[in-house]
Amino acid sequence: MKRAILSDIHGNWEALKAVLDDAQAQGVEQFVCLGDIVGYGPNPAECIDAVRNFPVIVLGNHDQAALFDPEGFSSGAERAIFWTRRHLETADPDPQRTRSRLEFLCRLPRCHIEHRFLFVHGSARNPLNEYVFPEDIYNARKIEKIFALIPQYCFQGHTHVPGVFTHDSRFLSPCEIQYHYVLGNEKVMINVGSVGQPRDGDYRASYLILEDNQVWFRRVDYPVEVTVRKIYAIPELDNYLGDRLREGR
Ligand SMILES: [Fe+2]
Repeated sequence: MKRAILSDIHGNWEALKAVLDDAQAQGVEQFVCLGDIVGYGPNPAECIDAVRNFPVIVLGNHDQAALFDPEGFSSGAERAIFWTRRHLETADPDPQRTRSRLEFLCRLPRCHIEHRFLFVHGSARNPLNEYVFPEDIYNARKIEKIFALIPQYCFQGHTHVPGVFTHDSRFLSPCEIQYHYVLGNEKVMINVGSVGQPRDGDYRASYLILEDNQVWFRRVDYPVEVTVRKIYAIPELDNYLGDRLREGR
């Protein structure tokens, strides 16, 4: 079965729509979402509605922060979270839809395990909040401890930087492996990148397709300026959140 695994949509409807269209064109049969559906972006409700029927969805730190008290966020991120919460609570005139979106976020699990596969937002050690950055390959202790908690293959997001962490502490960027990786007998952690706010210098939406042991990283063009203009029009969302979309930073 062909599965699309996507993460960190962050309320960017234009990027999500482009990814869903691309996945459909690629013959994807099932979707997995690794969290941070909301936060930063101008369309949290639309993004929730688009993913809520995916069979596998895990909670991200911004999803949790939109429901409860945000902790450890920058002031810009915190303002965006409070706007997201108020928007989700008050923007839709239908109280039933409003309630069902909030309940949906409340019910998301912190991780999902399927046989040899683990799906989390951050890391196997701290599913909600831990970042595993490419430079962490030089922190052997951290990488070893996290790998010890992985059944065999772990798919994650949170850093917005796609790539493969191998069992022997290498980080392979999608570009250097021609956007294709084959799962072998060794453990790997694979970061799927971010749909709605990529931070690896490529502004295009990132996600991946998994079929049997084959992984394809995908990058999808979308109308960035439409999203940027929406962010500019909302005072509580810093203009910087729009500006960075253009650069993929
Ligand atoms: Fe995120």
